[in-house]
Amino acid sequence: MIYQRELAMAKSATKVFEDLAKDLTRLIGDITDSAVKRQVGVAKEELQALLSLAGFLEALFSPPRSVPAGEKTAFREDAALRDVCQWLAHYPSQKICVLDVGCGIGNVPVTMLHGLAPAMLAKITYVGIDKDPKIVDGLIEAHKNHSPLAKSDDGQERKLGDFFSFDVHLVDVANLSQTILGKFDLVMCHNLVHEIPPFAIPKLLSDLNSLLKSETLAEIVVIDMEVLPRDEPESDAFTWGCREFERLLRAAGYKNASATKHDKSVPVFSSVVTKAENVDVGNACLEVRRVLEQRQKLLIRSYESLRRQERKDFVMMCDIILVLAQIAYVARCLEQEDH
Ligand SMILES: C[S@@+](CC[C@H](N)C(=O)[O-])C[C@H]1O[C@@H](n2cnc3c(N)ncnc32)[C@H](O)[C@@H]1O
Repeated sequence: MIYQRELAMAKSATKVFEDLAKDLTRLIGDITDSAVKRQVGVAKEELQALLSLAGFLEALFSPPRSVPAGEKTAFREDAALRDVCQWLAHYPSQKICVLDVGCGIGNVPVTMLHGLAPAMLAKITYVGIDKDPKIVDGLIEAHKNHSPLAKSDDGQERKLGDFFSFDVHLVDVANLSQTILGKFDLVMCHNLVHEIPPFAIPKLLSDLNSLLKSETLAEIVVIDMEVLPRDEPESDAFTWGCREFERLLRAAGYKNASATKHDKSVPVFSSVVTKAENVDVGNACLEVRRVLEQRQKLLIRSYESLRRQERKDFVMMCDIILVLAQIAYVARCLEQEDH
């Protein structure tokens, strides 16, 4: 859910502040009195801070966007994704079917094009799914047009057609159980789960589990951010901590599930599980509730500590807004589940 009203307000605030900043710039040029000029300069600086704040609010209330690979190398092309390429490179099967859930603009396949040898790519049947029609169309076009999307270490151009087969479908994961996609050796959720309402994750795990081939080597890999980057805040997102996600996986029935933490500029966790006999959606939902309730207490404590501080600068304002947005989101998730 995007807050249309708040987004419109943030956009109009940006416009007003931009116009004012232009007027002030003109004014400064016309003023000859140096004291007045200085005062107007201070006003302009304060306006600049408000403009940044309006921009921050605009980003907070806007739909999440998929960032091109390489633009945020510190966490998007995470070491964990490299591990996935290693896993693929050593997978003993002659044919490997990969499902990329919430594929976005294709960072996972592009990382594979970078990291895997052509002979390896030729073994992979890649299927991506996403709920955003523009994203799906973009990837289909890139495949059809043989667009070069990556270069190997020796400078060779790589394209989506280098996979044994490449397919993308418009699918909302809420409808995964009614969609026929086949069975997979590897199911990837890269930077997806923070966008999924927490109480929908147990059912998602159950659906993904049933899409795994029954061989014990087949895996689900979840990689996600532990906190939202300030330049891309999302009002409707819940970031799982590494240990919290591990607890959720265990409650769902993945007995030895573990997650590892990667301290990038934005901390990331990655977790790998093999097919469970049965995913206990009810028990996992209870764990989601425990995690949300604990998190809500922590968020409220952070909010109180931020309020006690004397600082009232731009960064502080953004922190307060982010904590409040998270408190509101968690409260809404808990409330909806109660009904
Ligand atoms: C942050 S992007 C990550 C994209 C890509 N996996 C990557 O690593 O760059 C999250 C993607 O998940 C998709 N998404 C979010 N909720 C979804 C849902 N319910 N069903 C399918 N796709 C979803 C969004 O459209 C978006 O493209």
